[in-house]
Amino acid sequence: KRIVVLLSGNGSNLQAMIDACESGIINNAGVVAVLSNKADAYGLERARLAGIDALHLSAEHYPDRDAFDQAMAEQIDRYQPDLVVLAGFMRILSAEFVRHYQGRMINVHPSLLPKYPGLNTHQRAIDAGDNEHGTSVHFVTEELDGGPVILQAKVPIFSDDSADDVKDRVQQQEHRIYPLVANWCLSQRVVMEGNRARLDGNDL
Ligand code: GRF
Repeated sequence: KRIVVLLSGNGSNLQAMIDACESGIINNAGVVAVLSNKADAYGLERARLAGIDALHLSAEHYPDRDAFDQAMAEQIDRYQPDLVVLAGFMRILSAEFVRHYQGRMINVHPSLLPKYPGLNTHQRAIDAGDNEHGTSVHFVTEELDGGPVILQAKVPIFSDDSADDVKDRVQQQEHRIYPLVANWCLSQRVVMEGNRARLDGNDL
């Protein structure tokens, strides 16, 4: 099975996917391409180091979002992916792009959705006085960070935590649960039906 990863930055979740394919946590699959909208994303370097095609497309070279997303889809579809994994891809996706990959595109968002969609989730959780926080893996739909949640992991927030402390704790959990969900998707254990995620035939 083939996974294509989209990212804009560090790529620690990409690394977790690559490692999980090697260790067998993800069965019979590999990351076949990594696409970044940022030329300097360290995730591209991680791809190259692993011998994976590393692609860069810059939105500035396209007249509008639809044109850029269409160019991305053309690159992605050359690899005939079974699963498209968003791993810190920091751009809004057009409705058409999302529809094209509906049910086979997942994202990891650093909050316990539906809490804190959008940016700065760790600081927002601290500012709200929350004592727990976490991460959510969900199918991507047209609603930003609003698609059906597949799996979440919780972490504590301690009173002296900085946003970076919380982020590190959250990312450790992301690296654990994101590959698990990718494996479920690739083996069809989890599917999207309508606007619901179903695991082994049960609504989540
Ligand atoms: C992750 O924390 C994820 O929740 C968010 O972006 C971050 C990407 O980190 N969507 P990395 O590039 O995978 O290290």
